[in-house]
Amino acid sequence: MTVAILEAVNIVKRYGKFTAVNGVTLRVMAHTVHSVIGPNGAGKTTLFHALTGVVPINEGSITVDGVEVSHLPGHKRVLKGLTRSFQVTSLFPNLSVHENLRLAAQGRNPAQALHLWRSAESLTAAGEKVDVLLERLNLSAMASRAAGELPHGQQRRLEVGMAMAGQPKVILLDEPTSGMGIEDISAMKRLIHDLREEYAVVLIEHNMDIVMDISDTVTVMQLGQVLVEGKPGEVSNDERVRHAYLGSVTTEDNA
Ligand SMILES: Nc1ncnc2c1ncn2[C@@H]1O[C@H](COP(=O)(O)OP(=O)(O)OP(=O)(O)O)[C@@H](O)[C@H]1O
Ligand SMILES: [Mg+2]
Repeated sequence: MTVAILEAVNIVKRYGKFTAVNGVTLRVMAHTVHSVIGPNGAGKTTLFHALTGVVPINEGSITVDGVEVSHLPGHKRVLKGLTRSFQVTSLFPNLSVHENLRLAAQGRNPAQALHLWRSAESLTAAGEKVDVLLERLNLSAMASRAAGELPHGQQRRLEVGMAMAGQPKVILLDEPTSGMGIEDISAMKRLIHDLREEYAVVLIEHNMDIVMDISDTVTVMQLGQVLVEGKPGEVSNDERVRHAYLGSVTTEDNA
């Protein structure tokens, strides 16, 4: 039997009287890219906030690799293997790209991160890990540059790299290509595609070319609920999905 690495069952999130997420169930399998799409305001980001502990849920349960995390604060969920891409604001702009990744890698083990003195051996191991990451992010040439000096597209790749550095089981990415030019978009697309070798990826993305090309599973949300779920081809041919998007064509175009 295939077991989900991230399982969220019947998630309900209310803001006052408004129900932003209304009974969503999401089963994300290991080594897959699982996209969550839907018109603006469907509840996608709220679902991510609920999964990662940014907001408390009103109902439901969330497990990561079989471990219940529903009531853990966000930083403890990270230790259970659930991480989201860091926001640009959480990069240390004055530190080098290499230093940012090294700190993110150490964050996996807080005890270690607090130790000022560490063995030469573990420092070397961390350094090698960062070098591999830099290579995968195609940022080796920028390793000694201050993170704050990188162009937007490279900063966003670095954010994904910060998430990878923590060696999570599941990485959640909310619109990782927003505001990017064509070249950066295709680099990000390749990076996300390759992430599935080691992690499960949950991806919120408005760019349908990316979603259709790299997803194993697509969940379509509308009005806080799951409208349709399936393989990319099934979802794109579904009449209900076309209909859900028709009403939001203008907003999508403006996004
Ligand atoms: N803190 C909040 N308080 C009250 N309502 C909120 C809050 N955050 C989000 N909402 C509402 O919840 C609904 C879902 O918002 P959410 O941001 O999750 O949508 P989304 O699917 O991510 O949309 P988009 O594609 O535009 O990013 C919207 O109607 C939004 O106005
Ligand atoms: Mg959103």
